[in-house]
Amino acid sequence: MNRPIVVITGASSGFGLLASAALAKEGYQVIATMRNIRNCDALLNAAREAKAEASIDIVPLDITDETSIKEAADYVIERYGSVDLLINNAGVAVGGFVEEIPSAEWERQFSTNVLGLIAVTRAFLPHMRKQRKGTIINMSSISGQIGFPGLAPYAASKHAVEGFSEALRLEMLPHNVYVCMIEPGSYKTDIWKKSRGQISLRADSPYAEQMQALNEQVDRIIEQAPSPDEVIERILQIARHPAPKLRYPVGRNMRTTLFLKHLLPWSWLEKLILRQLRLRS
Ligand SMILES: NC(=O)c1ccc[n+]([C@@H]2O[C@H](COP(=O)([O-])OP(=O)(O)OC[C@H]3O[C@@H](n4cnc5c(N)ncnc54)[C@H](OP(=O)(O)O)[C@@H]3O)[C@@H](O)[C@H]2O)c1
Repeated sequence: MNRPIVVITGASSGFGLLASAALAKEGYQVIATMRNIRNCDALLNAAREAKAEASIDIVPLDITDETSIKEAADYVIERYGSVDLLINNAGVAVGGFVEEIPSAEWERQFSTNVLGLIAVTRAFLPHMRKQRKGTIINMSSISGQIGFPGLAPYAASKHAVEGFSEALRLEMLPHNVYVCMIEPGSYKTDIWKKSRGQISLRADSPYAEQMQALNEQVDRIIEQAPSPDEVIERILQIARHPAPKLRYPVGRNMRTTLFLKHLLPWSWLEKLILRQLRLRS
């Protein structure tokens, strides 16, 4: 019963689902949380395929709901006694052009990606601090390093995750708890489809042309996006690492973007981005 204990949010699909199955297969006890446990079939199938069903405990957790967070954290501590790895993976992507995105959508973006992530972290932090060990992986993004047009709410939320993680890492290092971030480029998961369906655009929008250009670009990115294997492999590497570092960029477009961001003056970079996205400056 000395298997390391992992808690992961947003395990119903995408990275969360695949990471849960992969970690369970590697011998971790995975508490795979999701806001609606009726959506657990895909995870159960993946776990069965990995012959790791017995190592996955599916627990309800809506990261925007304080009661749900408390109930999940209490359950985990009572049942398993500790948490060795917390993966703050759950997230949504709100897109559109800033002036047209309603306040409720900004709130949904921040209550999930930022305030939800912080609240889940705070629920487990006292236990990790007291046990003087543990790792927290916050799922950031290429959008935590650079703000692309049409994705301001998402970019702002991931930039907030970056600042939060930097500060928390320095607070927790003296307690032997390692906070780190994975910063993936674009990968094939449901997040694109889900966010595409919810983009706000007025019928008479002055941004209609820009949105169309962006949509075509996003279609191309989704089509060319690789499967999430690299991200899952990175999660496994961090889980095994006794002292992981702060940032783990993953993906070809991420490495190129970071390289250019550090190499080029910003005025060049913005021209390049607008040209690549086929938006006029
Ligand atoms: N895919 C990419 O290219 C990419 C790139 C960079 C970063 N990321 C980040 O990776 C993380 C996982 O995304 P993904 O690509 O795997 O997308 P995904 O398949 O849409 O997974 C997102 C997960 O978050 C869950 N979620 C959303 N709101 C929640 C809430 N309030 N409480 C609990 N769970 C909630 C979703 O649950 P439901 O099924 O109930 O909606 C789903 O399980 C996100 O933080 C995302 O920003 C993704």
